[in-house]
Amino acid sequence: MKILGIESSCDETAAAVVEDGRTILSNVIATQIPFHKEFSGVVPEIASRKHAEWILPVVSEALTEAGVSLGDIDGIAATNRPGLMGSLLVGLTFGKTLAWATGKPFIAVNHMLGHLYAAHLASDIEYPYLGLLVSGGHSIICKVSGFDDIEILGTTVDDAVGEAFDKVAKFYGFGYPGGVIIDKLAKNGNPAAARFPVPSLHKGEHRYDVSYSGLKTAVINQIDLFWNPDFEKTPENIAASFQETAVRILISRLLRAVADTGLTTIVAGGGVAANSRLRAMLAERTELNCIFPPLKLCTDNGAMIAGVGYRFLQRGDRSPLDVTACARVPTFKRGLKR
Ligand code: KG4
Ligand code: ZN
Repeated sequence: MKILGIESSCDETAAAVVEDGRTILSNVIATQIPFHKEFSGVVPEIASRKHAEWILPVVSEALTEAGVSLGDIDGIAATNRPGLMGSLLVGLTFGKTLAWATGKPFIAVNHMLGHLYAAHLASDIEYPYLGLLVSGGHSIICKVSGFDDIEILGTTVDDAVGEAFDKVAKFYGFGYPGGVIIDKLAKNGNPAAARFPVPSLHKGEHRYDVSYSGLKTAVINQIDLFWNPDFEKTPENIAASFQETAVRILISRLLRAVADTGLTTIVAGGGVAANSRLRAMLAERTELNCIFPPLKLCTDNGAMIAGVGYRFLQRGDRSPLDVTACARVPTFKRGLKR
């Protein structure tokens, strides 16, 4: 079964063809980074216009690269939530139109289910496990019992982890996109140059929650308070100290979830899952089986959407063609299922 997956929730126009939820026949990602760079962040209006301009050539390229024609495709999947409304509507409407015109089944996919599925495109992973979904908009620790059977254990009470990377990079003028640049700078910095505090949300229902607004404020507005004067305040040292704390926050909550659930397989997904320090720190935990998607599948892509689409379609699920986009997903809250 070959599924065409379309992803346009933020600033990547992406399409892929995936066979049987596993074999990636093509994975085309047209990044809009150069258009948003001068604003040090995604400009929604520019993003939607670029998606509208690029969606047809990107989908055509995905089919060509896969060596298939539209007639060979068994189903069409597109992200419909969460994300930037104008961006989501382009890929979703394109996918629905294609499905209507060809009479093929259509399925609308939750972007975060896609991020979680990314690792499944590269390895066989058994359920249940703990999911670590970390991106520009989300920081989620969840118990995953099936591709769409997810129990949210913890989430951020304020900013998402990727957002903190982006904002710190923007403030210090490191460049855009922030996460990749901080990761790179940090390799030549000393993580002990500053000791930023780890938020203490440890009680009751907040046991697995994370918070990044305090860290962001500390790094941006109170850096002198936490800086060790033995170190020079270089971009590399700032990046390394910030990154160290950002990753520690995630791991501390994840370890609580491991202890409480007894689950030792961790599957990461989302842009921040590309972070080299997060990967290294989790690799040190030899008692855990930590599975990361290949780097190209961490950030937004159509293959992960095609993968989830396959699972739904194989089960007989379809979305009606009046399904619409949704910028926020209220069910991504602690304690609720999916
Ligand atoms: O999953 P993604 O492409 O889009 C969203 O769904 O948000 O994630 C983008 C986020 C951005 O905040 C970006 O700075 C962060 O992922 N990111 C990283 C790295 N690569 C991307 N953060 C830390 N280290 C990285 N290597
Ligand atoms: Zn994403």
